[in-house]
This record gives sequence, C-alpha cells and structure tokens, in this order.
Amino acid sequence: MEIVKSGGKVKTGVDVYNANGILLLAGDVFVSTLKPLEIIKQNGIGSVPVNTKLNGALVDGDGNAISLDAVGTLPGPSAISGNAGVPDKNFVFPAAATNEIEVRLVEIEEKRRQALQKHAAAKKCIKNVLKNIKETGGQFDYTEVEKTVLDLTEFLIVDKNSFSYLTQEIFSYDEYLYNHSINVCAIGTAVLNRFNQQFSKVVNDHIRGGDGADIYNPFAEDTINTTGFICYYPHEIEDISLGFFLHDIGKTIVADHVLNKKGRLTEDEFREVKKHSYEYGERLIAKNQIRNATVKNIVCYHHAPLYAHENNSYPMDVHYAEVPVYTRICKLADIYDAMTSKRCYKEAINPVNVVTQIFRTYAKKDRMLQYILHAFVKSIGIYPPGSIVFLQNGQMAYVLDSNGPLVLPFTDEKGNTLKYKPDPVIADTSAENNVYVVDNRKSVQSPKEVYNFIPDYLRNFLVMQN
Ligand SMILES: [Fe+2]
Ligand SMILES: [Fe+2]
Repeated sequence: MEIVKSGGKVKTGVDVYNANGILLLAGDVFVSTLKPLEIIKQNGIGSVPVNTKLNGALVDGDGNAISLDAVGTLPGPSAISGNAGVPDKNFVFPAAATNEIEVRLVEIEEKRRQALQKHAAAKKCIKNVLKNIKETGGQFDYTEVEKTVLDLTEFLIVDKNSFSYLTQEIFSYDEYLYNHSINVCAIGTAVLNRFNQQFSKVVNDHIRGGDGADIYNPFAEDTINTTGFICYYPHEIEDISLGFFLHDIGKTIVADHVLNKKGRLTEDEFREVKKHSYEYGERLIAKNQIRNATVKNIVCYHHAPLYAHENNSYPMDVHYAEVPVYTRICKLADIYDAMTSKRCYKEAINPVNVVTQIFRTYAKKDRMLQYILHAFVKSIGIYPPGSIVFLQNGQMAYVLDSNGPLVLPFTDEKGNTLKYKPDPVIADTSAENNVYVVDNRKSVQSPKEVYNFIPDYLRNFLVMQN
C-alpha cells in the first residue's frame, strides 16, 4: 500500500481470492490505486506475500523496479487470514487494481450480504408484530420495531442505492404483507431522503438569492452539503421510516379471505379494506399508546387524496393540501410496490411502466407533488441493481448500478451464455453510437426468472430466495 500511496504500482503475479473463492485481484494486472487493496483488506486479508518469480512486480513512482530487498522481508502465507484452503501460490503482495468488474462485484456482494441481514431482521420483526396483534387482540412490541427500523434506516440512507438491495423480492408473491412493509419502508425512505436533499437545497438557494430562473433542476447531480434550511432532520426521518414500516398494520384486522380475494371485491368488502388505515390503523396506534404523530399520520392517511377529487382515495374528509409530504411519499411507494409485485390475483407490472404511470397520474397536479415525483423517479431509477435487462441487440445483461445503467452483458445476441467475462458497459442512448442500449419493450426480469442463462461467476451475487 505504501508503494501505491507514493505513486508506484504493484502486480501480484498470482490471483488473490477471498474466503468464498471470489477473485479479488487478478495476478497479472498492475494496481495503481488504493481501492482494490482496501477491498482485499476488507475481506480480512491483512497481508499478502510477494514472489517475483511468479511474475509479480513492484514499481516506484518514477517507473523504476523495486527489489524485494528494498521493501524488506515480506510476511509469509501464514500472515494471511481468511483464506484457508487456498493454495499458497495464489497469494502475492497486494496487487492490484485489477479488473474493475471484480471490484464492483465484490462491493455489490458486500452490500447484498448486509441487505440480506437487515431484510431478515426486518421480516422477523414485522412477522412478530402481525402475529402479536392477532394473538393479543392488538398489542405489539413497539420498542422492538423502533430498534429494527432504526437499523434499517441507517443502512438505507448511507448510499442512495441501498434500498434496491432490500427490495429484491418485488417479483415474489409469498408472504406479501411482510415484504410489502419492508419494501415501502425501503423505497419510501430512499425517496424521502432524496426529496429532503433536493428540496432543502431549493429553499436554501432561494434564501441566498438568485433570480429563480434556474432554481431547480431535478436532473442535476445532487449537491448535498445543505447548511441552513433542512426540511427533515435525522430524527424526523427515523420517525417517518417507522411510519412507512407500520403503514399497513391495520390490515391485521381485515379478514384474510377479503385481503387475499382473487376476484373483484364487493362494495362491502372494499369498505372493509379501506378501514385498515383510518379506522383499524388508528385503533392499533391508540391501543399501543403510540404518541408519535408522524407514525399516526402515515398509518391513517397513506391512502388520502393527493390532489382534488382523486378517485379511490380514503378517507375523503381530509384536504389533499393537508397531507404531509412524507405521507404522500408513503402513498407513492405503496402504489409502486403494489403494482410491481405479483399477487395471487394479478401479475407484476414492469417497473418502467409503473414509474411512467405514476408520473402521468400525479405530475402537474400540484407543485409539491412534482418535487416529490422527481425525487421518486431519481431514487427508484428504472433499472434496479441486481435485476436483468434485455439489450436492443438481443443480449441479456445484469444491472450493476442503476446509474447509467451500468450493466454486465452475460449472453450473446442469440441468448447463449457467454463463456468469458465481458467488461461492464453503460447501456443508454446518451453515448453516441452506443450498441448497448436497454430494450424497454421487454420487461426488467428478476435473476431467478432467467437463472439458467446466468454464468456461474454471477450466480454467487444473486439473492435466490424462496
Ligand atoms: Fe394501506
Ligand atoms: Fe400498503
């Protein structure tokens, strides 16, 4: 690391793997940035011996070779941790920088690992809440929920893509209510966070002056260092996430045969379902003595109208302008998740179409809604990391990052799985003459829908649940 820090570069000569057999560093590539070395370190590998006989090389900032004598005695294989069972010849001095794709995949794998843990904890928590309410006639452990959701919220606001790793089950249809609570919490928190940053900046720019002509460009990159006005403070975001997580608790009081009915609901049944928010939800809040006004507002009003006379909204005795921004965000996240999820009575709709539909329904209805919608579209992106897209040339590709989107094609144009690892590519039309363009006529898929086409090196990174 010292060599790289001082402008030099290193090459291992051998491949470096982590304990799961994932290649962290290719042996024959010079590393000249610290990132790959840090990733090796994060994988529990504190040091790696170098053997120049295996094509390893150390070069200083002026391009001169450094002899092993010059860097002193290097630790032997016994100094390596977390690599039991991997042959010694695979270890070399932290080499390098490698292949961007491995680095990205390692980062994604780590994110997924954390997301899986958080998801499991959240699922256990919401399962207990619903079970306790049913068993006790309404009581549940609110403190436990607060703890779990706080942990979830911290994970969600660290980086803007985190939420997408928590919502990988949008294509599954089992245990809908558990996943729905987590999804709405994850999507809602991501949108809220984005809205908070963007809207606070708009207000601050306004306060500081400017002619207002270019006051808000929702497509500009976020510049977040907001000082001055902040729309929602961290403790408020925590309360809001809590509300998102619990928004549908009132459904525990609605009979299962009504909630899961395959056919059309009768008028009476629909009236009963509506009560889950403003009546049953409110009853459970009162019964558990939850005095958090934010949570209560979300539970009671997450189906309230967002503009004058919006159909299918309830309760109708609230004016849309009185519905807080966070409750509006809950409603949009709820609609998005319901539409993109497969249920016993309906198929999942492609997220691209859902985002478009939501935008068409709500844009131009109200100025504040426009701010929310821009945050919504920017947060969700239309290509969630970990999903599969089709390119216009016929290739299938794995989405590494919704930004771009950055994708990894893994089949040829005819759909045959590639035998080599390709480089990631940006798959949009903004790059001139780009041959890699997402085909929006075909649905975004979950990995398990095309599992047979996915090469082994990618399967390790996929969440295969259910
Ligand atoms: Fe609801
Ligand atoms: Fe809901």
